[in-house]
Amino acid sequence: MRALLMTEPGDARQSQVADVDVPRPGAGEVAIDVAYSGLNFMDVMARRGDPGYAKSWPYRPGLEIAGTVREVGANVVGLAVGDRVAAVPDGGGLAEVAIARAGLTVPVPAEVSLRTAAAVPLGLATAMLLLSEAGRFAPGDSVLVHSASGGIGSALAQLVPLLGGGRLIGTVGRPEKVEVALKSGYDVAIARDEMDADAIRAANEGRGVDVILDPLGTSALALDLDVAATGARIVLFGNASGGALDALPPAGRLIGGNITVTGFSHRGLVAGAPQRVARAIRGTLDLLAGGRLDFPVTELADLTEVPPAHDLLAEGRGAGKYVVRVTG
Ligand SMILES: NC(=O)c1ccc[n+]([C@@H]2O[C@H](COP(=O)([O-])OP(=O)(O)OC[C@H]3O[C@@H](n4cnc5c(N)ncnc54)[C@H](OP(=O)(O)O)[C@@H]3O)[C@@H](O)[C@H]2O)c1
Repeated sequence: MRALLMTEPGDARQSQVADVDVPRPGAGEVAIDVAYSGLNFMDVMARRGDPGYAKSWPYRPGLEIAGTVREVGANVVGLAVGDRVAAVPDGGGLAEVAIARAGLTVPVPAEVSLRTAAAVPLGLATAMLLLSEAGRFAPGDSVLVHSASGGIGSALAQLVPLLGGGRLIGTVGRPEKVEVALKSGYDVAIARDEMDADAIRAANEGRGVDVILDPLGTSALALDLDVAATGARIVLFGNASGGALDALPPAGRLIGGNITVTGFSHRGLVAGAPQRVARAIRGTLDLLAGGRLDFPVTELADLTEVPPAHDLLAEGRGAGKYVVRVTG
């Protein structure tokens, strides 16, 4: 079968589509014929060799898929060959066949295309968990999202209004991405070189922000604290630059401001509380099936188009969410 392989840490030159053996499911696992696979910045972090992302080299990337069950391992109940599913594989999802734990494999309702479903297990599910769990989002809350024009940012642009959010403000790394964020649904988008507390407060009609979703390591944390409303939740969920992380802020600001600073990791939940990830996948698939949620994606036609698309993400030039057609 065809699979994307990253031979060693590097860039697109170390990524190639290779012919590899078809994997078989172990106990508690299923093998899935992959119709579509989602692209994610975490595969870029693995590719560039950030510690903890690729377990070994050569590395087989791909962390979210949709397709049909091909083979069921021992002790799996509730899933059968031919079922349409979305799943979180433990890597190896950018391939014609991938293995996932049954507990992280969720049936896809008939109303949802496998193309859209491929953006759910990591992309939409992360956006949902950031809001509902880590961010303790409540209707009416204003939300600030850094890296607003990317995959997670565009998922949040769909979910926040659906869940009854107030002002939705995004920041982006390049001026040309302001338009992308606005088109996807942000009320205001600010380029990073113009991003300061005054601009963000002005964007929120003079008020502090209730929920701040920040994948920029700790580089924007001082600003986040500056614009946080009383009772705000700041969720740190990434470290796009891969740089060193600063210490957490002085407790006095947190106590005095009733501010929560919390972390979020999809990977951490997959390891320690997979049922919460599965629930978020199910919940977002149901919203899509009911027609309440739409999630536009850009489709790549073949696995060979993934390395240049990873380049776009690595250079901060991506726009929205990408999925690749594998066998669909
Ligand atoms: N914790 C979790 O479980 C989890 C799950 C999924 C994603 N994430 C994080 O969420 C962020 C978005 O992920 P995504 O998959 O949707 O990717 P993406 O947004 O499509 O692409 C990554 C974005 O990161 C931003 N960025 C900031 N500093 C960068 C740097 N030094 N190099 C490259 N890009 C940089 C760029 O946007 P701007 O320049 O506009 O900021 C870039 O477009 C990533 O940081 C990712 O690691 C975390």
